[in-house]
Amino acid sequence: MGHNIAVIGLGGMGTWHVQNIQKKVPSLRVKGAFDVRSEALEKTKQLGIKAYSSLEEVLGDPEIDLVTIAIPNDMHKETAIRAMRAGKNVVCEKPVTLNAGEMEEIIAVRNETGKLFSVHQNRRWDRDFRIVKEAKERGLLGQLTFVESKVQGSRGSMYGWRGYKRNGGGMLLDWGVHLIDQITQLDTSKLVKVDSHLLSVYTPEVDDNIKLMLLFESGMSAVLEMSTMCLIPSYRWHVEGTGGTLMIKNWECEGELYQLKQDAQMEWDEDIVYTEAGPTRTMAPRPKFTMNEIPLPEVKTDWADYYNNICDVLDGRAELIVKPEQSLRVMKIIDLLFKAAEEGHGFKCDL
Ligand SMILES: NC(=O)c1ccc[n+]([C@@H]2O[C@H](COP(=O)([O-])OP(=O)(O)OC[C@H]3O[C@@H](n4cnc5c(N)ncnc54)[C@H](O)[C@@H]3O)[C@@H](O)[C@H]2O)c1
Repeated sequence: MGHNIAVIGLGGMGTWHVQNIQKKVPSLRVKGAFDVRSEALEKTKQLGIKAYSSLEEVLGDPEIDLVTIAIPNDMHKETAIRAMRAGKNVVCEKPVTLNAGEMEEIIAVRNETGKLFSVHQNRRWDRDFRIVKEAKERGLLGQLTFVESKVQGSRGSMYGWRGYKRNGGGMLLDWGVHLIDQITQLDTSKLVKVDSHLLSVYTPEVDDNIKLMLLFESGMSAVLEMSTMCLIPSYRWHVEGTGGTLMIKNWECEGELYQLKQDAQMEWDEDIVYTEAGPTRTMAPRPKFTMNEIPLPEVKTDWADYYNNICDVLDGRAELIVKPEQSLRVMKIIDLLFKAAEEGHGFKCDL
């Protein structure tokens, strides 16, 4: 059974949705798109889809059963609510809303209409993230202790409407939402403490270089870092556990995984060691024979699987993967991270 979809907003991401679905999701047919800019709609000819002249026209088209919302962040809530009330199932771009309160309104309308609603958290299908998750789930790293997840740009500012508060711009809402979604999927225990440093260096109105600190009930401590002026890239992931350490260098997923040998002797001499770090016991290097380098886990993943799941849910074959309740939790975390930055201190929490 196929489903007809229309895309609202044919900018960078809206165009990607159309092309990705056309190439990779055979059970969806992109019937058309609507954009307030007529020049954006010119693209519909190249894409071979219908140009709708208004949102009303999309929502009034009985052939459309799913709409994807890919417009600036401040307009997601209103558009999503209108679409569900018009009987459409909705995929909404991230960040779903500007705060948790708005997401609660969306969930109330989802409950009232019984329509499918899901946020396009496509980065749950990123290969680097899947490798980390797989390593954790296979027990290759033991209990995770310190996790660093970093993305770095080098062009300075936040682009276009992302530089304005009223549009829901800023790095926490733009990339923070992805990295928080990933980390709360990696460790599903409760968050017990959060803090944030939200710098606004190159884009006056919004945060553009940010560091988020999250402590989970499991004992895992995560630092999420997003910057825009990094000329020497750091790693994408650095994950320490009681049984090993994993590092993923880049988006190509080059990296390393070292595991402790189960049977290696782990007791060190009492003597101080003279190292490049100076005289120390704590920071003395571990003998190589006590650990093994193993390959990073192989994973198969594709962003198109987000839509494959949506189709399976519409056909009653599967459970929704990106659930609105999870997105609400992420928005509550974001609210608290904004508050921590405003007040200049971290918070204990139960999220
Ligand atoms: N999941 C991801 O990986 C990812 C990547 C990029 C962007 N996004 C998200 O996608 C959304 C769009 O971002 P973008 O980079 O495509 O922005 P963009 O500026 O490239 O495109 C937005 C488009 O929306 C149109 N638009 C504005 N108001 C509209 C309205 N009321 N009705 C119809 N069209 C309207 C604009 O004319 C523009 O063409 C944002 O929420 C963003 O956070 C997600």
